[in-house]
Amino acid sequence: MTESRFDEATPSGALTLSTLGGHAAGQLLRLCDIAGLDTAVAGSYAQTMTDVLGPVAERPLDLPPPTPTFLSDDQTPVEFSLSFLPGAAPSLRVLLEPGYGAAGLTQNGRTGLRVIREMARRWDFSTDRLDELEDLFFPASPQGPLTLWCALELRPGGIPKVKVYLNPAASGAERSAGTLREALTRLGHPEAFDSLPPAAGYPFLALDLGDWESPRVKVYVSHPNLAATEAGLLSRANAGPLPTEVEEFFRTAAGLDTDAADGADVRLDRRPVLTCHSFTDTASGTPTGFTLHIPVRDYVRHDGEALARAESLLLRYGVDPAPLGRSLSAVTARRPEDGVGLIAYLALAHQQGRPPRVTAYISSEAYAVRPPAVVESPRAEAVG
Ligand code: TRP
Repeated sequence: MTESRFDEATPSGALTLSTLGGHAAGQLLRLCDIAGLDTAVAGSYAQTMTDVLGPVAERPLDLPPPTPTFLSDDQTPVEFSLSFLPGAAPSLRVLLEPGYGAAGLTQNGRTGLRVIREMARRWDFSTDRLDELEDLFFPASPQGPLTLWCALELRPGGIPKVKVYLNPAASGAERSAGTLREALTRLGHPEAFDSLPPAAGYPFLALDLGDWESPRVKVYVSHPNLAATEAGLLSRANAGPLPTEVEEFFRTAAGLDTDAADGADVRLDRRPVLTCHSFTDTASGTPTGFTLHIPVRDYVRHDGEALARAESLLLRYGVDPAPLGRSLSAVTARRPEDGVGLIAYLALAHQQGRPPRVTAYISSEAYAVRPPAVVESPRAEAVG
């Protein structure tokens, strides 16, 4: 819970009753500053975020979450991420659930589609690729845990890049693979599904909409009980990362490189590692991008540990880690050591023809902070 009902983060410094939207807007404005966005642009992005959230933005934070959401552990429908490349300010994104607070998933999905279509009109992009999939992902009674999320990449010009996340299990978990195969085929990637690595599940399908140089279709795959050496073999991209690079990222993010003795075959058995396979080139069935997502929050005692791991990864990739530490202070006044989950995931992204990027996903914690773990080191079990 937030300590105060008053939000000191409003741009004017005025005391206002603390609302979900006010809380998230304050965080967004402070993060925009770290990402080097100017104040006017930041203000318009804060407004866009509150518009996307709709009526729940006005909800006082001393009321409990109106509905559950799978978007974050504490049921906040907002998550930030900072993506880092050497020699540049981090790029800021925000993930949102437009249908949060709706009475049921059917309504949640309808709101999601309406909000995306409003954005498309406002910023003049096409929703054709989403429209083609509507029957697959928005059946009359969709299954959970989500219907539609959107991520906005907050660019300097004031017009965000838009990504939409859909649930392959919407028409039933047992139909996920079929739904995904059909969606990929309709989008012009009939061979994509067969190029994916072995999967325990497919939590998301994501689409780039709008003004992208080469819009991607991205398939997320979950890998429970994964070991670093196995992670190294999951990319199916042509010019993807070397296995050793993926393994090293995995070990550092999971905290396994400190004790070399068992690091090699420790499996992450708390929350599954995810990989993401992106498709841009319709001529071949081969992905052009690969991302490894480590749910670091389940393999640390507290966020001080997560931050230290993130900083050492950033240094390895030639990136100044200082903005990440500042971004944690931009979202919360608590010390990193006093909770766990502020850094939800650490990710390594490879996209053909671009330098690798390191991304940190940062929770809003509007509703709750998970207390630090008291046990020794809750990271993983050695393979028996
Ligand atoms: N909260 C969900 C999870 O932890 C979904 C999610 C939110 C997610 N942000 C993410 C998944 C970033 C991967 C990367 O799985």
